[in-house]
Order: sequence, then C-alpha cells, then structure tokens
Amino acid sequence: MKTEVLRMLKEAEGYISGQEICEKFNVSRTAVWKVIKQLETEGYLIEAVRNKGYRLKMAGDILSRAEIESSMNTEWAGKKVLYFDETGSTNTEAKQAAEAGAPHGTLAVADYQNMGKGRRGRMWTSPRGVGVWMSLMIRPEIHPSAASMLTLVAALAVSEGIGKTCGLETQIKWPNDIVADGKKICGILTEMSTELECINYVVTGMGINANMEELPEEIKDVATSILLQTGKRVKRSQLIGAVMESYEKYYNVFMESGNMSGLLDVYNSHLANMQRSVRVLQPGSEYVGTALGINDAGELLVKTEDGAVHQVISGEVSVRGIYGYV
Ligand code: BTN
Repeated sequence: MKTEVLRMLKEAEGYISGQEICEKFNVSRTAVWKVIKQLETEGYLIEAVRNKGYRLKMAGDILSRAEIESSMNTEWAGKKVLYFDETGSTNTEAKQAAEAGAPHGTLAVADYQNMGKGRRGRMWTSPRGVGVWMSLMIRPEIHPSAASMLTLVAALAVSEGIGKTCGLETQIKWPNDIVADGKKICGILTEMSTELECINYVVTGMGINANMEELPEEIKDVATSILLQTGKRVKRSQLIGAVMESYEKYYNVFMESGNMSGLLDVYNSHLANMQRSVRVLQPGSEYVGTALGINDAGELLVKTEDGAVHQVISGEVSVRGIYGYV
C-alpha cells in the first residue's frame, strides 16, 4: 500500500483526500495516517491540510523499494524490486533471487555495495547514497550464444535513460561501457545460468556513477559521474525508472529477431568508437584498425589497413582507442 500511496501522491496535481485513499485501499483513516507518517520518516515532506488532504511538497533523492516501484512505468522490467541499504553485490542478490524462483524482470537495487563486482574480476567502487547499483534478472527464451547481446541492449537502455532523466548525452564504448566526455560513467556486468541449449536466467548488473562529487584517485582520469558532467544531482529512483522503461522497449525489439538487427542504427548512432582508430587486444594477437559499427550479431566490425574487415566478438577481447580510453 505504501508504494501505491506514494504513486498517488506523486501523480496528484494538488491535494489528495484521505477519504480517497481510504476508499481505494479499503482501510481506515488511521491506517492512511500511519503510511503518511512512515513516508515522512523516510524523508518525504508531506503537507496535510484539513478538508483538503495530503500533498507531496518535496522528495529528495530517496531510495527505497516503495520509491523505486512508484517510479516504474513498465510492464515487467523492474516491476518487482528487491531493495538493500547495503549488500555485497546486487548481481549476487539477483542470482539468488533467480535460484529461488523470482519472476522475469526482478530488479535488485542497493544504496551501497561493499563488494561490488566489475568485469574481469575487478572490484567496482559503489559508495553509499550516490550511485545506481542495480541488477536486472531476466529469463529470455533464446540460445545461450545470443546472451552477450543483452549487454548491448542494456547499454542502449542506460544511455537513453540517462539522457531522458537529466539531458546528458552519453555514448557507448563497445560493447557496453557508457561514456561521457570520453570518460566512463557506467559499467555493465552480465552473468548467466544455462543448461545445455537454454538459459535459466541472465543477470545484468549496471553501475551508474550518478551523484559522486569526486572519484577515487585511481579511476579519476578514466571515469566520471552525472553530477560531475552536468553540475546537477539526479534523482536516482527516476533514473532507474527511465532505464527500465528503455530496457523494456529495446528488449522487446531485440526479442523480435533474437539479434541486434532491429537495434543496429540506434546502437551505432551511440557508438563512441564509430569511425575511430581502435586497438583490438585478444589473447595471442593485437591489431589496429578503424571501427565501422556493429553487425546483427553485436560484433564490432574493424577494418584493418589491408582492407580486411574483422568481426570482433566480445568476451576476452579488449578494444581501446589508440589515443586514450575511447
Ligand atoms: C565493469 O567492470 O565495467 C562492470 C561494472 C558493473 C558494476 C555493477 S554495479 C551493480 C552490479 N553489482 C555488481 O557487483 N556489479 C554490477
């Protein structure tokens, strides 16, 4: 009921009467009053006026299950939220939820991760109160070999979600880093559980540097945050809602074909490496070429000086700009 009351308060033009809330949930006035008090203790400023009702005066950057769920306008993505003030890693939480039977679209969100995981076994810095640390669990009916493309779908969703929430334009460094001004603003880590030819579930973890005023010394030169780029704080629940809405949209397009064909243009238009010189580093070989965009399989096409076009598969490969990170 708290989520629904919060949604009603957010969507109301002006005051919303206590009577209306009572009738909607078939509860007493005291029960409504209790929910309002709970919301106030969580940081919402709610005005109560006799004969008019309640009005949401102000809500800061609050993160809670009710806040996130009431910011969600999707059919299934992020409809069920697992919220943690602190946890090791939301990817681990989402995987555990999947094993316990959680539904497709379950989203684990944390305000702080004390063991945030990055790709290639690295740590992911996830300080309290300033980032979006979340993992979406899905159960797609596709072949496991197609799952790596879901990371590209998530990258598109994050890039669009950031733009819609705060107007910041971002690009995608193939396959799935989101960059602004040439610096990383979001990383994505996909993990999955498969069985023979099918997928049990896929967990896509997204770490968005949202309201960090500064970044740790060791990543300062290659990473940034939304606050550092725009000078403004973003409401994280709104950002989460926007990313989930975009994810659902792009996922549906992806599932029509099971590949990137329907998303080629939009992905390539966000591609930071487009027509740039890149160095492809893979176990046993290294070469330089020009990035031409992705193909239907989500592979990066790189043209070398001899005219050959290589199809770079994500995974063990690392693609670097020859003059810097992008
Ligand atoms: C990368 O190395 O670029 C991937 C970083 C992924 C970080 C996110 S934060 C939410 C989720 N939980 C984790 O432990 N990792 C991912």
